[in-house]
Amino acid sequence: MKGVIFNAVEEAVTDLYSADTWDDLLDKAELSGDYTSLGTYDDEELFKLVGAAHELTGIEANELVRILGEHAFPHLAKRLPDLCEGAANTHEFLRRVNDIIHPEVLKLHPDAAPPEFSFEDLPDGALRVTYRSARKLGVLAEGLIHGAAAQYGETVAIDVVSGAGEAVTVFDVAIVASAEKAA
Ligand code: HEM
Repeated sequence: MKGVIFNAVEEAVTDLYSADTWDDLLDKAELSGDYTSLGTYDDEELFKLVGAAHELTGIEANELVRILGEHAFPHLAKRLPDLCEGAANTHEFLRRVNDIIHPEVLKLHPDAAPPEFSFEDLPDGALRVTYRSARKLGVLAEGLIHGAAAQYGETVAIDVVSGAGEAVTVFDVAIVASAEKAA
């Protein structure tokens, strides 16, 4: 996994807890933590950090990945601000992640392997998202989507339809509240 993801997770932990907590996690996981944005690190390091965070907080691993994804999102988005701003809403932004943002990531980091998404508009207005990646990190995608929705002033409900924790995960993303609608 690219270092930029570890950097964003570090920033999320620092926002939610503190820089000391990040150091505690590194100690517990026996990792050096010298992540450079351009470097590539074993995915296992991410799972070790989540394991250490589980020991420290008691929060279940999937829930931790979701929380970290949500809070890592703004730190990831600021790497490509022009591409991450200006979508009309969360649904349009998610299509942009697949069509523009991850392809741009591949130009910047040719050794990266971001997941693939496909989309289907459902009659009830929700967006059906199919996540595909051998990394089986659909739960990270869920967290990032919550973070993206916050950027667009929306709250989303994500319903996993099939394949939780698998290489292909299908989930429905419904907008349940929006600042614009409330105004
Ligand atoms: C809601 C928005 C986004 C979603 C749902 C999403 C989803 C994901 C997921 C789940 C992964 C983990 C790898 C995998 O599962 O195969 C990933 C990797 C990655 N994403 Fe995104 N992402 C989003 C936005 C962004 C943005 C804004 C950037 C801008 C920098 C970005 C850059 C990356 C990079 C660099 C990787 C690492 C790929 C690798 O190491 O091989 N993503 N993304």
